[in-house]
Amino acid sequence: MTTFDIKQLQTELDRKNPRVILKKALELFDNIAISFSGAEDVVLIDMAVAIRKDIQIFSLDTGRLHPETYRFIEKVRKHYQIDIELLTPDRDVLDAFVKRKGLFSFYEDGHQECCGIRKVEPLKRKLAHVDAWITGQRKDQSLDTRQDIPEVQIDTAFSTEGHQLVKFNPLLNWSSAQVWDHIEAYQVPFNELHEKGYISIGCEPCTRAVLPNQHERAGRWWWEEGAKKECGLHAGNLKK
Ligand code: ADX
Ligand code: SF4
Repeated sequence: MTTFDIKQLQTELDRKNPRVILKKALELFDNIAISFSGAEDVVLIDMAVAIRKDIQIFSLDTGRLHPETYRFIEKVRKHYQIDIELLTPDRDVLDAFVKRKGLFSFYEDGHQECCGIRKVEPLKRKLAHVDAWITGQRKDQSLDTRQDIPEVQIDTAFSTEGHQLVKFNPLLNWSSAQVWDHIEAYQVPFNELHEKGYISIGCEPCTRAVLPNQHERAGRWWWEEGAKKECGLHAGNLKK
């Protein structure tokens, strides 16, 4: 890892296009990974493999993804001939949780506990071993929680006293339309759920298709309010 000043780096990357941000991220960090959700942020992989073929890529396999998403992850792996690390929840903690609360407790008392076990803890384990990570977050995904994300930031949610973690958000200024233009222009593989009215895709029980003109995240945790629609991966986005 090269030394850098985060403020200076942010100024340098401000409003730059995703490729420039990715290139800089990979130039600065050897031990860096892309967090791939099995949805439209596959464009990050498409751009990154052209810069570094063996870039680390991981996906959080919550055990509750759609069959289409598993097929898509496999399609991406084969298409780019890359390794995709699938991170799974701690078995003992998950077993105890399911025994105690069953498989659908999130409809009754919110998604935080289940996301904490199935997504956040495995992510935390992974992030303890990298210096930086790359996400596909975009500002236009949420007026409530994503308007202030920067190109690069110290990840205050996952840094620890002895380990500073940097987070890059190369797609932040792209709209959904720009992402889809790229997918079409470069023949990037996509999740077949997008052909069935899904836009933002998470776990099967917590995602549904949206109607024309509904916001793309309206289909995520639809029984909860907008301001709570962060599952803990991007906890730093929530206003204290
Ligand atoms: S979430 O926090 O609400 O689930 P969202 O689906 O908008 O996140 O995705 C934003 C970014 O978070 C993705 O571009 C990806 O980088 C990361 N992410 C979300 N879900 C996963 C997942 N299951 N595995 C890996 N990364 C993920
Ligand atoms: Fe659990 Fe739903 Fe969160 Fe997936 S999105 S981890 S099923 S609460």
